[in-house]
Amino acid sequence: MYLTKEEEKILDGEAGYAAQKSMQILAALGDIFGADRLIPISSVQIAGVSYHNLGEAGLEYLSALSRDGRVKVPTFLNPAGMDMQDWKKLGISEEFAEKQKAVVDAFAAMGINTTCTCTPYLIGIKPKFGEHVAWAESSAVTFCNSVIGARTNREGGPSALASALIGKTPNYGLHISENRKPDLLVKVDADLRTLPDWGALGNAIGTRAKNKIVIIEGVKKPPWDYLKTFSASIVTYGAKPLYHIKGITPEAGSFEDPGDTLTITDTEMKEAYEYLNDADNTVDFVSLGCPHASIDEIREVAHLLEGERVADGVELWVACARPIKEEAERLGYASTIERAGGKLAADTCMVVAPVKGRFKSVATTSAKACYYSRGHNNMKTHIGTIEQCVRAALTGKWEN
Ligand code: F3S
Repeated sequence: MYLTKEEEKILDGEAGYAAQKSMQILAALGDIFGADRLIPISSVQIAGVSYHNLGEAGLEYLSALSRDGRVKVPTFLNPAGMDMQDWKKLGISEEFAEKQKAVVDAFAAMGINTTCTCTPYLIGIKPKFGEHVAWAESSAVTFCNSVIGARTNREGGPSALASALIGKTPNYGLHISENRKPDLLVKVDADLRTLPDWGALGNAIGTRAKNKIVIIEGVKKPPWDYLKTFSASIVTYGAKPLYHIKGITPEAGSFEDPGDTLTITDTEMKEAYEYLNDADNTVDFVSLGCPHASIDEIREVAHLLEGERVADGVELWVACARPIKEEAERLGYASTIERAGGKLAADTCMVVAPVKGRFKSVATTSAKACYYSRGHNNMKTHIGTIEQCVRAALTGKWEN
């Protein structure tokens, strides 16, 4: 990959340790993926924030970079392993909390905004159409590419941080127009009504579209919250982190239909629901807000919990960005949820928090949460609407 004179100097160490290390990572990535040059970016989202995933080696790496590394563009974080303020009420240990705070402090020392969320676009961090960014969390990357029409590869933790410290990313993959063309036409001939329907659709398409970019036809415009869950699901189950929907996403009108076609009917949707729902009907954990909840979703949860009480032995979390939690507090939704025994979990989520072994069976609106609850945390899973999940929290039972 071509480097400018200034970039060469950074590689030689003239701009300090963190910048040199970052330039080494970007140059190596550029060479591996055949990038021609580095291009400027307007924002970065860093994943790998939870101490649960980073461990001691990750914390040491961050501490070393934080000595002289300072970010060059607005940079924010993916969810951490706990609510950075109310971690005790989520059952997080003192020892873990100390390590997690050290991780976030190292990021803060580099000038990073320590808002930890996978839905930055809900709190005003929203790039413009066609803008280049370097984001890392898969649902955010997919939403950013598909719904916003900005351009990002799915960065790893170290490459996103390197991009933040340099302000650039290698020009390859989804930054290049040619690589954003769809290679599979998906005809949807099924009735999509609810939030989990879009998660199930993501499972049905993702498992069949294996590493392809799809263009979808036959669906009506859903609310943003449905596209956020779809973005999380389709990429989790195997498609590329970019999709187009005719009449809905901004680049969909720019392409010819690809030759290959896939049709999704009620049969494939039923199969997806059967896969996502385990048979056992007990629930001891209800996790909403994957991806992080919008204020509309929190309003619905609060409305359903008004005057109710979460069942003994069941834990209910609603994960969200801190600014959304603060808005929920102002609007009185937070106190309604907490009076009922639920917990608003800012900065974190059930997948990156250290919950393994605490729960046996989760109810969620999210197909992505089903995937990781099984794979990482050995839980049984149930997927349904917010209403079904809240009912499960009140009864400890799953009803289809
Ligand atoms: Fe976000 Fe955690 Fe789900 S990072 S997409 S809430 S698994």
